[in-house]
Order: sequence, then structure tokens, then C-alpha cells
Amino acid sequence: MELTLGEFARRARERLDPPVWDFLEGGAGEERTLAANTAAFDRIRLRPSVLRGAGRPGTGVKILGRTWAAPVAVAPVAFHTLAHPEGELATVRGIGAAAKVPVVVSTFAGRTFEELAAETAVPLWLQVYCLRDRALTRHLVERAERAGFEALVLTVDTPRLGRRLRDLRNDFRLPPGVTPANLEGDGFSSPSAHSRAAFDPDLDWSVVDWLRSVSALPILLKGILTGADARRAAEAGVDGIVVSNHGGRQLDGVPGTLDVLPEVSAAVGGRVPILLDGGVRRGRDVLAALALGADAVLVGRPVLHGLAAGGADGVRNVFTVLLDELTDAMAQAGLRTLADVGPELVGQAPVRR
Ligand code: FNR
Repeated sequence: MELTLGEFARRARERLDPPVWDFLEGGAGEERTLAANTAAFDRIRLRPSVLRGAGRPGTGVKILGRTWAAPVAVAPVAFHTLAHPEGELATVRGIGAAAKVPVVVSTFAGRTFEELAAETAVPLWLQVYCLRDRALTRHLVERAERAGFEALVLTVDTPRLGRRLRDLRNDFRLPPGVTPANLEGDGFSSPSAHSRAAFDPDLDWSVVDWLRSVSALPILLKGILTGADARRAAEAGVDGIVVSNHGGRQLDGVPGTLDVLPEVSAAVGGRVPILLDGGVRRGRDVLAALALGADAVLVGRPVLHGLAAGGADGVRNVFTVLLDELTDAMAQAGLRTLADVGPELVGQAPVRR
């Protein structure tokens, strides 16, 4: 029985073909940023408060007017069908069995928006790549909205795909049967070749207004790494931001996400919710992110590890371990609710807002 997310990763690695493992696990360049994400969490030391009668801690949070069972959602990851034939269907089933938290579905999901919406009671959000083909992008957004998706996460760190050396060396191709199910008739097999043709390298801030003109859903920007961009996003009227370096898969050499969180949090000043992803692997990592200014986190690769290890049950088990660890860390640190989490928990002075 796996008791840590690291153990699920080892199990997944045993089960997956090496090139598929490399595609899921790898980062860009020398993978310095990939390593920086986990290293930033490893450096954190928590400072508990004793004798606070924390009882059985509650992990619930409110984000964009909705209550989440825990401040942990599923990051958008392309092609869950690489890890398990049922793909995103198994993911939403597994998450639904573990906790009511959102699943962010990638533009490049391996299953259709409609079948996912029919399958699950967990909130679905759509990750949007604003493609060169705006009519197609608009069509995807409208389909998701019609299917009941609740928010849009516009990824802004991908003018082109990062230089992922493992995939270049492996000449990685999607195996037969793995396709972007929502891009009808788009029979591509090389993610890097496809992205060169499909991604729009010329996006600017006007894309936020464009997206708002085609959808009434809340819009979050994913891929913010500086205070200046976070401030600009808040001023552009977005509903939230995701501090992310794409799991170290885009520009290698940018900082770990936790390292930039205090700067981003200070710039945002509480105007919009802040989510963070990259390297969250333990319950205490969730607490560290909240202490430094995040409202919630997303996890990417661990969900794929759960899928590869055991389909929907594997995803449920990954989330159950993570949330058990979170509850345990809260109890040990003297935290009854997540509203009690502040910078003191990581040994920093309280922030005055
Ligand atoms: C991703 N990520 C990603 N992001 C996005 O906006 N759209 C996408 O389609 C994908 N696809 C994707 C595929 C794979 C295999 C990985 C590993 C990642 C990035 C993802 O949303 C997230 O930012 C990181 O995965 C978070 O880091 P961890 O939790 O994997 O460390």
C-alpha cells in the first residue's frame, strides 16, 4: 500500500513505457526549474503552535464563491489517456470519490468535455490554450460552457512548447488511441509538431478581453511568475491567477513557484484568489503554499501517477493520502481551520493588508 505520493510515482514508473514516463515526468532544458519546484518546498520548515485545541481540523475553503472540500485541485494535464485507457473519465471518478474539488480539464484532454460532465459531480474547469484558430478556441470554450464547466483557466506561459530534451531524444509520439478528443479530426501524433502549428506566439494582454467577450465564465490566468504580471492581471480584471511554471516544462531557469509566491501575493494584495502549482507532493506543502499567500494549490503529475498505478482507484488513493497528510499536519501544527494559516507558520512576519 502506498503511503506517500513518492510511492505512487515509483509504482507508475514501473507500469509506463519509458518514453511515456519521460513525457509525463520531464521538464524543459536541464530541468533546473523542475527541480526548483520541489526544492522550494523541501526548504520550508513549519513552526507549530501548541495547546490550541485544534480538535479535528477542517480543510474546507471558499474559492470564487464555491466551497471546496480542500484547497487542492487537479492541474490541467494533457492526455490522461497516456497513463490509463479511461483517461480523464477515471480521473474525475477518482476525485469524486475522494473529495469535492475542481478538476481543470486540458484543451488537450483525451476524453470529451461532454462525457466528463455527464460522469461527474465534481466541478469541471476548462484550461484554454488560445490557439491561432480563434474560431476553434471559441468553439471549445462554448462547448465546455454548455456542458456546465464553471471557470476558464487561460494558460499564458506557452507561446510555444518548451524544449523538452527527453521528448526530443525519444522523438516522442502519442501512442495509437491517444488523441486530443475535443479537437475533432485533428489526427496529430507529435505534440511538439502540433504545438508549433497550433499555438499563437503573438498573444498579448488583449486576449483577456477577447476571452471575456466570448464567455461569461470566470477567467483565471495560469503561468504568472512575477509581481508585475500579477498586478497587471488583477488590473485587467481577471478573476484569479495561477502561479505556475508549467511544472518546469516551459522556460528552464525560472524560479520554483513557491519562491515567487510572496512577491506575487504582495502585488495582488488580496484582490483576486491566488492558486499555485508545481512540486506539491505532501500535505505540508499545501500548508506552506497557503502560509506564503496562496488560496489553494493544484497538483499535476501525482494525479497521473495515481491513474497509472490504478485508474480511478489510484487517483482516489493519491488524493486521500494527500488530504490525510494535510489534516494530520494541521492537527500537529495546532490549526483548526485553514483560515488560521498565516506567514507565522513558516517563520515569517505577519503581512498587513
Ligand atoms: C502539463 N501542464 C499543462 N498545463 C496546461 O496549462 N495545459 C496542458 O495541457 C498541460 N499539460 C501538461 C502535461 C503534462 C504531462 C504535465 C506534467 C504538465 C502543466 C500542469 O498544468 C501544471 O502546471 C504542472 O504539472 C504542475 O506541476 P506538478 O504538480 O506536476 O509538479
